[in-house]
Amino acid sequence: MKATAKAHANIAFIKYWGKKDRVLRLPLNSTISMNLSEAYTITTVEFSEILKEDDISLSGAQFFAEEKNRISKHLDLIRGRVGKKIFAKVATQNSFPKGAGIASSASGFAALTLAACAALDLSFSEKKLSILARLGSGSASRSIPDGFVEWIAGESSETSYAYSLQPADYWNICDIICMVDTRMKKISTTSGMDLVQTSPFFQARLTAVETNLEKLKKALNEKDFKAFGEITEQDAIQMHAVAMTQNPPVFYWNAVTMSIIHAVQLWRNEGLGVYFTIDAGPNVHLICEGKDEQIIIEKLREVSGVKQLLKNKPAEGAKMIKEHLF
Ligand code: PMV
Repeated sequence: MKATAKAHANIAFIKYWGKKDRVLRLPLNSTISMNLSEAYTITTVEFSEILKEDDISLSGAQFFAEEKNRISKHLDLIRGRVGKKIFAKVATQNSFPKGAGIASSASGFAALTLAACAALDLSFSEKKLSILARLGSGSASRSIPDGFVEWIAGESSETSYAYSLQPADYWNICDIICMVDTRMKKISTTSGMDLVQTSPFFQARLTAVETNLEKLKKALNEKDFKAFGEITEQDAIQMHAVAMTQNPPVFYWNAVTMSIIHAVQLWRNEGLGVYFTIDAGPNVHLICEGKDEQIIIEKLREVSGVKQLLKNKPAEGAKMIKEHLF
């Protein structure tokens, strides 16, 4: 059977940086995120007895050999459930550039998981799908449920999964992604995280993240945007402070990233409710309420070096769709 799924990327307000189990992709801390309406992946999967190997393609760009291997390994996990090695044709399409700090692996592995399970007629719960997606890429676990999501770190594969805290239409907040460099990032999250324990701030951040997670949940429940933005920004800075103080250090920011950070601080001093967060790349995510989105977009024209903007609302979780890619 041919099956197609659509999954959105997500932005973490409380992030993880470091795993307690590298193979199972168990994060050191629980995280909270929101699915992004305009950053998504569509993937079609069809298993066939005729194929001698997986046939994997990405429209408009190319997969490297190691990426194809990672996708095949993930398919192995899923086809293992039906007990036979049957290869698949996989076609994938992203609405945004791959590897530029907008978690393409999150939407990619969430869409792949859902489509591959459906193509094999495996009907799994949302929790099970989140666990499976996590085994492909940690953050992919968060792209399975709807809207605002918590990924519980857990202590084992079965206890590390994401669930929806609130649906997508719960709160009209926006994530304006300022793309400053759309090339592939040089240091993958997987290898970047490996040396997290070499930072002298490693333990301090883990302690801070626990309190911040609870505070962010409260701010979400109360729709307290100021508190929500402040915690989001602090967590991002703390995560990057750890990465920058690892040995060897990992710097994801560039000069334009810094210009946007300074602009945000200035705009906030002028009374605008805007906060930033940054993943493993130089692009900056500006978090604001729907009412301020247009003003911020106008203001961003003053910042040179921003190549493109991607305006996102909260989005639903991974879903099956009817239009196939082949
Ligand atoms: O799970 P990965 O490999 O996509 O890594 C995600 C890393 C960060 O984006 C920096 C943090 C996070 O929680 O999303």
